[in-house]
Amino acid sequence: ISGNGSNLQAVLDASRNGTLDADVVAVVSNKAGAVGLERAKKAGVPAIVFPKSKEETREVYDARLADLVEGYHPDLIVLAGWMRLLTMAFIGRFPKKIINLHPALPGTFAGVNAIERAYAAYENFEICSTGVMVHYVLDESVDQGPVIDQQVVPIEPEYTLHDLEAKIHACEHELLVKSIQQLVTQMEDGHA
Ligand code: GAR
Repeated sequence: ISGNGSNLQAVLDASRNGTLDADVVAVVSNKAGAVGLERAKKAGVPAIVFPKSKEETREVYDARLADLVEGYHPDLIVLAGWMRLLTMAFIGRFPKKIINLHPALPGTFAGVNAIERAYAAYENFEICSTGVMVHYVLDESVDQGPVIDQQVVPIEPEYTLHDLEAKIHACEHELLVKSIQQLVTQMEDGHA
């Protein structure tokens, strides 16, 4: 995580109420003060602040991050609002184990402020719907990779930007849990 952690909360809740057959073993934030850290602590999950120092390169930071994450032996690493671009120094250590949530459809609005940019495109008559996706992170391309699941979110004429944000967030909370459960089921069946 890097911030609010509302998606983390959806995962923690689903794990607790049995919708999701998985445990969150640790939550790592690159930002101190991220609200999501408090959510993790409340759920009794280790909450680790792990910022990049100015002196170190992205690769050195990512290798340190990989060492930290490896120590928890995760079956899956979920980028749930993790807003730092990862290099192969991290990605290469966990092949097919990293997934990312993005508040737009595949091939659209990669990077930050995706919902705002989709809304601006709607106002410009360029799109009439947007969406949410969960995909594997296999390389350094931003918000791109084999899609695990996606969901279209139509933009209704009466929507404000705030309305669209609320719709997208509600949609991603569901899609993220559903996608993780899909992968957990595959792992249990021995397909992953
Ligand atoms: C979510 O909308 C997530 O899809 C987005 O950051 C937000 C985090 O919200 N991620 C990206 O834009 C990745 N490019 P949260 O901290 O409340 O879960």
